[in-house]
Amino acid sequence: MNIVVGVTGGIAAYKAVNVIRGLVLAGHDVHVVATDAALRFVGKPTLEAISRNIVHTDLYEGVAEVRHVAIGQAADLIVIAPATANSIAKLAAGLADDLLGNTVLASRAPVVIAPAMHTEMWQHPATVHNIDVLRSRGVTVVGPAVGQLTGADSGPGRLEEPDEIVRAALAVLEPKDLVGRRILVSAGGTREALDPVRYLGNRSSGKQGLALARAAVARGAEVTLIGANLEVQTPASMRVLHVGSTLELAAAMRDAAPEADVVIMAAAVADYRPESVAEAKIKKETTGDRLTLELVKNPDILAGLGESRGPGQIIVGFAAETEQDRDALLALGRAKIVRKGSDLLVLNRVGWTEGFGTEGNTVVVLDRLGDIVMEASGSKQTVADRILDAVVARFA
Ligand code: PMT
Repeated sequence: MNIVVGVTGGIAAYKAVNVIRGLVLAGHDVHVVATDAALRFVGKPTLEAISRNIVHTDLYEGVAEVRHVAIGQAADLIVIAPATANSIAKLAAGLADDLLGNTVLASRAPVVIAPAMHTEMWQHPATVHNIDVLRSRGVTVVGPAVGQLTGADSGPGRLEEPDEIVRAALAVLEPKDLVGRRILVSAGGTREALDPVRYLGNRSSGKQGLALARAAVARGAEVTLIGANLEVQTPASMRVLHVGSTLELAAAMRDAAPEADVVIMAAAVADYRPESVAEAKIKKETTGDRLTLELVKNPDILAGLGESRGPGQIIVGFAAETEQDRDALLALGRAKIVRKGSDLLVLNRVGWTEGFGTEGNTVVVLDRLGDIVMEASGSKQTVADRILDAVVARFA
């Protein structure tokens, strides 16, 4: 895709470098339009090296090729990061006194802005009004985040993290094939308390589940994420409920599932929990050289959801297996989808270095007949999108 990144003049302009880098690494052709003020904060050579393209600033350069409109006409997406209070006001008013203003007006591509300014400026009625105007025109506003600002002060106004800006910007380009669908996703790993300080748990970080939730939001779905001990930050674009144990997860899923068109169980769930939880810390002075734990079986949440599924509801289970042989792995998946009664089963291999906590994943998706409907490998975000393709295909 041809993406124009507008950089305007705020101290956060240096972070635009990472936004540009993220878009380039995602395989896009990035063209930077920087205002004069932006170039007081970040150097043109840096922007050119990172974007791998010439940086445009001057309205009166490239006049013969009608550059003031050509850049905008060619764009598939415009991302403005940081967007200062001044540039937001100019965009809202439709001003075209610089190259960026001309580019935006000449373009029919979606526009994403990431505001950055001091809290007072962000909360000023003029900025609030300008943001409302831009939103009403379909502009996507990412952030700002709440946190440390340039001086000693902190509050809303900090530029959203570059990774988040990249993700939100690329989400705008996603097909909106889940509009009107409600998707419930579980993520993370349940923990079963032994005493007030210890638990039995697993190494799930919540990355795969969060990637699914993000991908569903990007495709227009209304998403509820039930997170068990997540190690990842969740965005404001989804409803998030936090749980700890399997019984808490089971209750939360049972409550939320009737409202969902699709339920995806990506959480790693403890099959057993201690029969009793010690009121005080278990002391080795009392337990001696051996400690025997009595465990009782947890409910199978996924199987329960399958039994009580609503009409037309699609249930997606996961299977985490350590089996190395592909045929044996598939056989485990085929047996599991029958046992769990889900419509699709995402089979992934896990181990010391695979699946849990990693950035990437490799999955095979099976249907109820045990047929392979899709295979994917790549980042957990890429895999999430492919899994949703399989879900969308079932709606069709
Ligand atoms: O979170 P990450 O670090 O990104 O790691 C991702 C992941 C490896 C955890 C994820 O991709 C994954 O495989 N999740 C499922 C883990 C799991 O519990 O697999 P399982 O084969 O033990 O369970 C099969 C299915 O039954 C799962 O959908 C599970 O959510 C569900 N289950 C299991 C036990 C139980 N008592 N109730 C359940 O609902």
